Order: sequence, then C-alpha cells, then structure tokens
Amino acid sequence: MYDLLLRHGRLLQAGGTIAAMDLAIQQGTIVAIAPQIEAPATLELDLQGQLISPPFVESHIHLDSALTVGEPRWNQSGTLFEGIEIWRDRKQSLSLEDVKTRAVETLKQQAMQGVLFVRSHADVSETSLIALQGLLEVRDAVKDWITLQVVAFPQDGIYGSPQNDYLIETAMEMGADAVGGIPHYELTREDGVKSVHRIFALAEKYDRLIDIHCDEIDDDQSRFLEVVVACAMRTDMGSRVTASHTTAFGSYNNAYAFKLLGLLRRTELNFIANPLINITLQGRTDTYPKRRGVTRVKELWQQGMNVSFGHDCIQDPWYSMGTGNMLDVASMGLHVCQMTGTAEIDACYDMVTWHGAKTLNVSDRYGVEVGKPANVIVLDAHDRYDALRRRATVRYVISQGNLLAHTDAPKPVWHRDNAN
Ligand code: FE2
Repeated sequence: MYDLLLRHGRLLQAGGTIAAMDLAIQQGTIVAIAPQIEAPATLELDLQGQLISPPFVESHIHLDSALTVGEPRWNQSGTLFEGIEIWRDRKQSLSLEDVKTRAVETLKQQAMQGVLFVRSHADVSETSLIALQGLLEVRDAVKDWITLQVVAFPQDGIYGSPQNDYLIETAMEMGADAVGGIPHYELTREDGVKSVHRIFALAEKYDRLIDIHCDEIDDDQSRFLEVVVACAMRTDMGSRVTASHTTAFGSYNNAYAFKLLGLLRRTELNFIANPLINITLQGRTDTYPKRRGVTRVKELWQQGMNVSFGHDCIQDPWYSMGTGNMLDVASMGLHVCQMTGTAEIDACYDMVTWHGAKTLNVSDRYGVEVGKPANVIVLDAHDRYDALRRRATVRYVISQGNLLAHTDAPKPVWHRDNAN
C-alpha cells in the first residue's frame, strides 16, 4: 500500500522529454514511476493528463524585507538607492516576531504556487542581527515542508561601517548557509575588491556557499564580477559560488564582455538574474534609449553557464508588486532577455526549476526520480511552453511525500449561445 499515488500524469523530465506516467510515493520518497501502477494507495489523485514537474526553486529573495511595502514610506523614485534608504529606516523597528511572521507568510504564498526550495538573503548590517536570527529560526520551523537557505547579506557593505566585518563573521558562526556581499555598494573600488576576497576567505573558513550581489548597477565601470571569477578560479570553488544580478554586464562594451565570457567558461559559476526587479530598478538614470538593465542571460546560457531566475523582492522597499509566482518571474525573463526561440522558452522554465536547484547545490535531492524525496508539483499545462504562456495554475503541491496545497483550476464560462 503506497501513501500517495498520482495517476494519469504526464511526467516532465530533465531535458524536456514528457511521458505518460503514474507515480507512487511512500514514506516521503518516490518509490515507483511507471506507465501504470496497480497497487492501492491511501490517497490517489487522478491527474487527467496534467503535467508532473519538479517544484519551482526560488533562488534569490529577501524574506526579511518582504511584505513591508509603504513602511515607513513608499519608494517614490523607484531606485535601488532610495530602497536602501527606506529599508535602513524600516529595519530600526524590526523584531524577531515581525521578521518571522512575514517570512512564513511569504513562504506559504510561494509554496502554494509550487515553490519548495528557497534561498533568502538576510541583512546582517544591524548589530542585533535580528533579520538573520529570525530567518534561521524560520529555516528550522518550516523544514518539514520547504527547504530554506539563508545568505548572510551585508546590505550596507562589509566595510561600510566599522562593525560590519565582525557581524558577517558572527553570522557564519550562527549558522548562515552562505556568505554574501555587495561590492559595488562599498565605499571605494578598493573596498569592493577587498570585500570579495573577504567573502571567499569566510566561505573557505566556515565551509559555506557564496552568493554575492555583484555589479547590481548600470555603471559599465562596475567590474567586480572579474574579481569573483578570479577568486573562483584560484580556489576551485566555482560551483559553490553565485553571482547575483550582474546587471552591469548588460552595459559592458563587447570587447570586455567577450573577454569576461571567455574567463567564465573556465569556472562553474552560477548566475542569478532577477528580471522583475532588474527591469524596474535599472535604467532609472537613462533618458532614451533606456537600458533593460538585465545581465546577458541568453549569452551566459548559450555558453553553458548555469543561470537561474529569482523573484528578489515581494512587496518591499524595492518592489511594490510580486506574488511569489515563479512563472511570472520566468515570463518576465523570457520577454526582457528576448528568450523567444523554442529552446530558449524551455530554458526559461528550467531557470526556475533545475537550474535553480543547481545554484542552491541541492541537485542530489531534486528531481522527479525513483529514490529521491517526493517533492513534486502538478501543473494544469501541456508542456513547459504552455505553462509559461498561460502562467499555468499549480494544481497540486506535494512536499516530502505529503499533499501540502492544492488549487482548483479556474473555469471561465462562455455565456453567449451562438458562435458569434
Ligand atoms: Fe537581492
């Protein structure tokens, strides 16, 4: 007797092949996948040909600031820097309960839409480290239904204040999964370079992943990615390192960009673009032509680099919109990065699933395969293209073998009798 049996699904596998399959789950693990499984189960779901997919991966979000839009004021200029100023004011009133309540509420929103793996940044620029403490407690509280990674993120720079270097190391000791940074926001170019070296030293000392907010600016002279690349090559840590945003890459001259692409091929660096936020925050100082402000997603993907898409913000000082729906994120990425070829459209879906899992270094326990943890979603869609085009409803979310959430499919009704 299985715990859960999914009947008549169409299983989407890595690489895009789709096959009609039943899927059986027992004690939190996928134990059988076959065209027809006969054995009874405690719960059976007839999927009626809907798409079985691995869950969505949210590779970049700030849960500590989520759901604070308008507090204490709205970002009127829409710029990254006004957002940082507003957050500096809002975080004065952070409490553990405040952080945890908003984070869990956001995670629930995400999970109900099929997200079961999340990497969140936690601001560690405040001496209390409340944001970090709150997210570490949430990581533990939700671990039975969603996997949360927490990055120690020095929002105001590692060298922006005298205590910040100490705080980020304390964050490592408290158990952050990854060390972050923001070299383009450090006071000087030299501080930015120094911060990247410090991040790698901390990651090596504490055996942690790295995820750096890198060159999130339109300035074509912001060139910290090359420092990250050099450190990754010298430490051989590339697959454990992520460069988030890298929006300046979209503004580099081609001679420099092509040199950089050549260097990147020698690493296994991960990239995260956040198209919803990049398209709204960047290009604010441009007149016309106005830049899109997104990194070179297509070229990085064509080079074989691992690229994923993140939401970045949900209703916070930087972005008042957002619902946690990763198909919204992938759809915006598809449009802004002009990923409209058939393989490119499929790749956009992969950037919020398999590629995100690789970025999070969780590929060994990710995917709909016999023997893997039963984290599975069912979409009201035919294939990846259909899922993206219609922003398909996630009908079922199965987390660690249990039915976590379901959504009834919307059913529009046509009220005219004749065909015209
Ligand atoms: Fe971010």
